Amino acid sequence: MPEFIPLISQQEIDGRIKQLGRQISADYADKDLVMMGVLKGAFIFLADLTRQITIDHDIDFIGASSYQGTSSTGQIVFTKQPDLDLENRHIVLVEDIVDTGNTLLKIIDFIKLSHPASVKLCALIDKHERREVNINVDYSCFSLDKGFIIGYGLDYNEKYRNFPAIYDLKP
Ligand code: IMP
Ligand code: MG
Repeated sequence: MPEFIPLISQQEIDGRIKQLGRQISADYADKDLVMMGVLKGAFIFLADLTRQITIDHDIDFIGASSYQGTSSTGQIVFTKQPDLDLENRHIVLVEDIVDTGNTLLKIIDFIKLSHPASVKLCALIDKHERREVNINVDYSCFSLDKGFIIGYGLDYNEKYRNFPAIYDLKP
């Protein structure tokens, strides 16, 4: 049986998402905003974040997958394309966790083909240790040096996304 060590509580997550919602609402006050969730990991984070954003905005999803077990395969597969027309709109990409950064880099390149007005990055967790590419996470809730975490949308082989808080996984 894997061991789950509590890392970030529901209360801490709620508090940070409220702050982030206020910040995004202020930064995009006069802009045509699309919050673009990266499936599957961001579905719970975006569901909570969108309800803390007080300005009009659209929601869309892009599907991308790179992980098996606790290590990135290095290859990403697009499992869903955005539905909305993104041209001249301001896009905030919403990810569960940025690790090497390779997934987001490929998604950014793909989104830019639609000629958006801007693309910024929002991640629940900004994990530093294994970063391989030079990308800046514009909005993040929590920073983490290393480790493999699950819960609140984050999975290990598709399990544990339903845990309401975030845990360190010791296999
Ligand atoms: P990257 O391409 O290495 O940045 O990988 C990002 C993706 O890997 C995330 O969207 C997650 O699906 C997955 N991932 C990276 N670290 C973790 C973790 O600690 N727990 C669960 N999934 C993770
Ligand atoms: Mg995953």
